[in-house]
Amino acid sequence: MKRVGLIAPSIAAADLGKLRDEVRELESAGVDTIHIDIMDGAFVPNLTFGPWILDVIRSVSHLPLDCHLMVTRPQDWIPIFAQAGADRITVHIESTPHIHRHLESINKLGKKAGVSLNPGSPVSLVEELLDWVDVVQVMGVDPGFSGQDFIPNTVEKVRRLTEVRGSRTYLIKVDGGVSTKNIASLRQAGADIFVLGSFIFSHPNRRSAIAEIRNYLK
Ligand code: DX5
Ligand code: ZN
Repeated sequence: MKRVGLIAPSIAAADLGKLRDEVRELESAGVDTIHIDIMDGAFVPNLTFGPWILDVIRSVSHLPLDCHLMVTRPQDWIPIFAQAGADRITVHIESTPHIHRHLESINKLGKKAGVSLNPGSPVSLVEELLDWVDVVQVMGVDPGFSGQDFIPNTVEKVRRLTEVRGSRTYLIKVDGGVSTKNIASLRQAGADIFVLGSFIFSHPNRRSAIAEIRNYLK
């Protein structure tokens, strides 16, 4: 399988007072997709955006929009974010007993489906889903906040997902705590998509932060 190396800024960490400018700058700096954290205050102890956020981003960018649902009732939110224009919808396996049904519903809505694993969830939890998903997302932090420390055994989980992939074509995404301190080992372990929040948005010059990350993905 041809290696990809995609950069997905997490806009929850952006300066939301100038979100349109931030997105314009990200796109001109060459990022590949926009990662949008949807938190309901129940699955995670934080609250972020409703579907309206996709209109704000879409008004200044054509990049693919990747909605990361950190919600207790994904079945309620999947059709809403699909309708709002999400290109990919990622659901936490810990948020529902019916993950297979939800991934199927995302595919039926014509969107790409992702499944996400919290730090405490083993790769074996998604073994039966690997033929159905476009992306397996491995959390590098406990979900709910950007700016947290990276959990080191995330690298091992990425490596395990690479080992079990075989001829399947799902991409491996890492979300949370990604920076130049760990991206080389994540890349070497087989990760394809890198979500970055604080690394990009704590950098006064977003463009140079993105260029620095791109260097690890050649
Ligand atoms: C955490 C979110 C992540 C986070 C990434 O719940 O899913 O997308 O915002 O931010 P950093 O890169 O700062 O951990
Ligand atoms: Zn996320």
